[in-house]
Amino acid sequence: MDLTPEQNAMPPEVLLEWYVELGADEAIGDVETNWFAVSPAAAVPVAPAVNTGAPAPAARQAPAAPSGAPASGATGQARPRSGAEPATDIAAGALAAAAQSLGELRAALEGLEGFPLKVTATNLVFGEGVETPDVMFIGEAPGADEDRQGRPFVGASGRLLDRMMRSIGLDRAENAYITNILPWRPPGNREPTAAEIAICLPFIRRHIALVRPRIVVPVGGTAAKTLLDQRQGIMRLRGRRFEFSDPDLEQPLPAVPLFHPAFLLRSAGQKALAWRDLLTIKQIIQ
Ligand code: URA
Repeated sequence: MDLTPEQNAMPPEVLLEWYVELGADEAIGDVETNWFAVSPAAAVPVAPAVNTGAPAPAARQAPAAPSGAPASGATGQARPRSGAEPATDIAAGALAAAAQSLGELRAALEGLEGFPLKVTATNLVFGEGVETPDVMFIGEAPGADEDRQGRPFVGASGRLLDRMMRSIGLDRAENAYITNILPWRPPGNREPTAAEIAICLPFIRRHIALVRPRIVVPVGGTAAKTLLDQRQGIMRLRGRRFEFSDPDLEQPLPAVPLFHPAFLLRSAGQKALAWRDLLTIKQIIQ
């Protein structure tokens, strides 16, 4: 971005604040990259998360491979071919249904082509926690911190979610599992579109069937409406007991929507209701 002489004269911290106000939330580098000229990068391993279903988290995904480059496959990184057909919910459904393990489901997401969020995201944020947990928490989509680390709920709202979980004896390393409806961050944390949700829905449904939790907890309005097929907002859905059904499940699972921790960080007055809902969840586990 070219700076005016006035901006050039600003102290660096003021300039940084100005960038943040404009919506910049990533420090990428001094020199812009022409991603169309970049050859597919080798996977850069980062520290593995708890039980993500894969040996190593995804590395930075090259947005577009030169034409003629190999398409991404079940074991490769997400690397949409230039000119790939847009993903459809039917293709997504077939990919998700074929996955017989969490590792295969992750590979299926990595192999999904023609999904623009994969191009703008840094990492696939698959999920983490234990299999057959007491509770599976499902948020909306990764934010900037999650996108950087390839792990769900690790920013400010994730820290609050961890505290909320601990208050009823849950921990992602012991008896809980956390993921999102969308495994890639929408740019600038914008809301996911209906089309994006439709593509990701077969994957999250299969994710639930493979994780086999005792209870599903949609975190926030988007997750609650999507998973429970409801039109009402989270204010009306929170704390109520629903059933989550899927042909891949032997029987429906109880589901209790919870306020999103990002909302609770902005509206501390609602924490009493969230506490009540956590107690409902605890009661069901017991
Ligand atoms: N908000 C979400 O819904 N999910 C995350 O992983 C982080 C923030």
